[in-house]
Amino acid sequence: MTQDEQKRAVARAARDYVAAHIADGAIVGVGTGSTANFFIDELAALKERLGGAVASSEATRIRLEGHGIRVFDLNEVEDLPIYVDGADEINAALMMIKGGGGALTREKIVAAVARTFVCVCDQSKLVDTLGKFPLPVEVVPMARAHVARELAKLGGQPRLREGFVTDNGNLILDVHGLAIGHPAELENAINEIVGVVTSGLFARRGADLLLLATASGVETMRRATATITS
Ligand code: 5RP
Repeated sequence: MTQDEQKRAVARAARDYVAAHIADGAIVGVGTGSTANFFIDELAALKERLGGAVASSEATRIRLEGHGIRVFDLNEVEDLPIYVDGADEINAALMMIKGGGGALTREKIVAAVARTFVCVCDQSKLVDTLGKFPLPVEVVPMARAHVARELAKLGGQPRLREGFVTDNGNLILDVHGLAIGHPAELENAINEIVGVVTSGLFARRGADLLLLATASGVETMRRATATITS
């Protein structure tokens, strides 16, 4: 299977998971990126059952609405049973680096509200140690240089993502050269830097379930402490 065929296969598996685990009228959180796009296209088959969706980016909102799926502001939604999103890297504890598409802040907010986070990836994303993929950090523009200096003190080499502005009007520093041995501690340390909006390290709230596309099919991995609702 090509990488796109793997993404399509895992998107179908996620659609089936959603179909089996939501009540009629439920609202589902939807992530951002190429794998999430395949999922959105599959989710369209469930649109008569769905109450709608919450989007983690403007690009996702546009794609959902293009399929006739109603998109809700997160503030209007009390219960989000499932959030489906991709990742740039994921480890065996289902901690992730996200934000390659720059949507990390809204992704982290939607993930915080969702009861179950289903990560959809192809095999290339599964790693032993997070950090080979540069860690995206969203920063308030006037704090860019200060945050870059503080990230360098944590051992990384931050580089401004040129010509990119997030949906929230902020900048992204991509932090190279990190071998992330203690993801939750690093997430806390980055959160404490004044001017940081969010980091793309999803350690404290990782995924609950990983649907992983491999050449021979889709495998399922669960986080040890996951609460899977049905
Ligand atoms: C966007 C993300 C994406 O989930 C991540 O970049 C993976 O994208 P893709 O499915 O295209 O590989 O975090 O901000």
